[in-house]
Amino acid sequence: MQNKLYFCTNTKMAKGLYESLTYLETLCSLAADLSTDLLELAVMLPYPVLYPARKLDLPDTMLLGAQNVCGEADYTFTGEIPAFLLSELGMDCVMAGHSERRHKLGETDTEINKKVLSALSSGLTVFLSISETAEEKKANISDETLRIQLKRCLAGVSHTQTSHLRILYEPSWAIGKNSSAVQPVYVEKRHQTIRNCLCECFGKKVGSSIPLIYGGSVNADNALSLIDQPHIDGLGLGRSAWDAENFNQIIRQVLQHVNYFGRSGSNLL
Ligand code: PGA
Repeated sequence: MQNKLYFCTNTKMAKGLYESLTYLETLCSLAADLSTDLLELAVMLPYPVLYPARKLDLPDTMLLGAQNVCGEADYTFTGEIPAFLLSELGMDCVMAGHSERRHKLGETDTEINKKVLSALSSGLTVFLSISETAEEKKANISDETLRIQLKRCLAGVSHTQTSHLRILYEPSWAIGKNSSAVQPVYVEKRHQTIRNCLCECFGKKVGSSIPLIYGGSVNADNALSLIDQPHIDGLGLGRSAWDAENFNQIIRQVLQHVNYFGRSGSNLL
């Protein structure tokens, strides 16, 4: 259980340059009064938007980052973007391993591991996304899949780098407009598996300190029942966050709920 809540969004390819900047500006002004003691809010935008976005006045709660990064060490990957360049642009964070990249673009755990290592060594916070497909879920191998992805993608990460790590569980069957309904208890079980695996990899103290975020069709109707689960430390939103007012409302609804009801006895406000 973490002492703050984690929210993130990835706008994918849904917005152009000006729409992205207007969105970010609106979100910043709506979220300006929220304290970093209460939450971390990460926004992952397409590469061309990152430089002008960095020039905006972002609140301390907000991490700005890219949706992808190249993990290769030499320069011979035309069209790719290295971690050091993102760092030079003043980025705080980066996503690695989103299920659309794994399943539509064929990204492997080995490639994702290189991205994770390269981003961490450039000082970026990494949102490592892990996910099982509908077929893996049906075959009852979700936990095995998640454990393998975690162990492969985190190979070589040192204990000291884990403070820059967030794990994003985003099952592919739960993402996007044709997705299946999300069951909070199902997510809680997967998060318990992820937590146990992180404790195996890094020891109990460090493994318990890495925030676990759930993403996949999160919206105003299911956000509270998801955050009520003790092993869910935060929420990753796609479509429901792409309207800044809606995202802000969901964030505040969750913060108020947690303040009033707590999460396994915690009281954050
Ligand atoms: P969704 O997307 O909330 O629109 O399902 C989630 C994601 O891909 O991060």
